[in-house]
Amino acid sequence: MADLSIVALPGDGVGPEVTDALEEVLTAVAARYGHRLDVRRSGIGWAATRTTGTPLPEATLEACRGAGAVFLGAVGDPEAEGRPPEERPEHGLLRLRAELGCFANLRPARVDAALLSRSALRPEIAEGCDLVIVRELTGGLYYGTPRFSDGRRAVNTLVYEDREIERVARVAFDLARQRRSRVTSVDKANVLEVSQLWRSVVDRVARAYDDVELSHMFVDRAAMELVTNPRQFDVILTGNLFGDILSDEASAMCGSLGLLSSASVGGATGLYEPVHGSAPDIAGRGIANPVGAMRSGALMLSHAFGLRAEAEAVEAAVSAVLDAGVRTADIAGPGEEWVGTTAFTAAVVEALR
Ligand code: IPM
Ligand code: MG
Repeated sequence: MADLSIVALPGDGVGPEVTDALEEVLTAVAARYGHRLDVRRSGIGWAATRTTGTPLPEATLEACRGAGAVFLGAVGDPEAEGRPPEERPEHGLLRLRAELGCFANLRPARVDAALLSRSALRPEIAEGCDLVIVRELTGGLYYGTPRFSDGRRAVNTLVYEDREIERVARVAFDLARQRRSRVTSVDKANVLEVSQLWRSVVDRVARAYDDVELSHMFVDRAAMELVTNPRQFDVILTGNLFGDILSDEASAMCGSLGLLSSASVGGATGLYEPVHGSAPDIAGRGIANPVGAMRSGALMLSHAFGLRAEAEAVEAAVSAVLDAGVRTADIAGPGEEWVGTTAFTAAVVEALR
């Protein structure tokens, strides 16, 4: 019997809805396998700023540090636009990632056979695609200083140190070894010094992995290859901003941003979050797709708690429900019926039992 002590940060928009969905799935897993589940909720994002003045209250950070794993729903709210940086919801998430030391963000993008017709790509291009983006998460343009705007001139700084590149590269190569043994490192080394350093450090790390095939690709080319020949990719290793952009692009290949999950690892406590944002346009309507959250839960079960069979059971239950033709609005074809978040979740829970 394992102790699943989880801090859940529902956050903003559809975050609370997908967090509820995940909690139901975890409850079913715990019941089926006889684990003890303890989910505690804490505030983050705009929801936290509204009540406490800060998007990452100290109490939340403390709770996360003591947890076996952290789940995050989503952050972001249109109301926050134009507010000072330290009050913005995204600031809370960025600080949390850094405080937890989660420097490697794993974002699997696999095309479900049942959803092939929902891919933004032609089926013969998307079919069978199965890749993971390993995005550096606590450095690069998101965190570099100086950063400011004086109203006429704004500055952000792109910095990477060799040790930051090295440790995330190792995560990518280790992961590739468990998959198809290919790493594509994505950069902009024809223009940026940072990318030239990136390339040379990745080359150096690769020497310890002679069973893994490494190639380098410029980011503009990678953006094109991802929609024309995505099956060539196994593990894509890249920096913070490029990884953010390419993962949304990869979601279009899968059929919806609502499907993608992620695991942020490297520190003592891992952070698990769907790739989608707070989706304020559909928030509170009960129609959000909980698959990204559920698959993030599966990543949590295997990475944080070492529960491989349980993780596979969640994956299998989600796949069974999709194979049976159950759809949320975002993945329903024209004229196809769809169900809300709660009904979709009930179907997954049923499949888990
Ligand atoms: C993501 C999101 C975040 C990011 C935002 C909400 C700060 O887009 O996780 O992809 O840019 O990292
Ligand atoms: Mg993003």
